[in-house]
Amino acid sequence: MYPITITGHRVDLRDFRPDDIPQALAVFGDDEVTRWLSFDSRDHDQATAMINGAIERAQAEHRTEYYLAVTDKTDRMIGFARLGLSGVKAAKLGYAIRADRWGHGYATDAARTLTTYGFHTLGLHRITAAIGPDNTASITVAKRLGMTYEGRLRDHVHTNGAWRDSLLYSVLTHEWTDHAATL
Ligand SMILES: CC(C)(COP(=O)(O)OP(=O)(O)OC[C@H]1O[C@@H](n2cnc3c(N)ncnc32)[C@H](O)[C@@H]1OP(=O)(O)O)[C@@H](O)C(=O)NCCC(=O)NCCS
Repeated sequence: MYPITITGHRVDLRDFRPDDIPQALAVFGDDEVTRWLSFDSRDHDQATAMINGAIERAQAEHRTEYYLAVTDKTDRMIGFARLGLSGVKAAKLGYAIRADRWGHGYATDAARTLTTYGFHTLGLHRITAAIGPDNTASITVAKRLGMTYEGRLRDHVHTNGAWRDSLLYSVLTHEWTDHAATL
């Protein structure tokens, strides 16, 4: 299915477009954002390659990645949310919002919207999020989604020149049916 748009309460999610690149730099090119992610900040050319790669993968015959732009209600990209399918009916969830738009509930809404899509539309059984131990804002988002803490992944990612542990959170489809209605 391509291109897709998923409507949330505060944000919408949609496939990337080439004209997102200037806004994408405020996310992928900002150290304040990428220090929490598993990659280093990208310059303009690298951000362009990332967006183009996501657009290309989104059109694969058997789509295994839902790497979507998070947009405000004027269709301006303010972040991304990603479901990467792996294993049997399982996916990894990731998200980021540009720093000057933090604290408005956008990540919570984007993650909630994409998780609902994963369970209800894609038929997933399990969705996980691996979060840096110091990333209080993201842990807040995971807990608010009703995710359960499973354990600590040692030296899980190499970022900013060092190994970093992750805290693994998960939610299962039968748990979500009850929880999504309360958000
Ligand atoms: C994590 C991130 C996506 C959250 O985005 P956001 O749109 O600001 O998130 P929300 O507004 O939905 O919720 C964040 C919550 O964390 C809280 N929070 C933020 N920083 C915090 C801190 N340092 N300590 C405690 N709580 C914090 C916010 O107050 C908010 O809770 P509230 O609504 O009860 O006030 C954003 O900070 C970000 O892009 N960070 C860099 C990338 C990243 O970490 N991605 C996740 C990787 S696992």
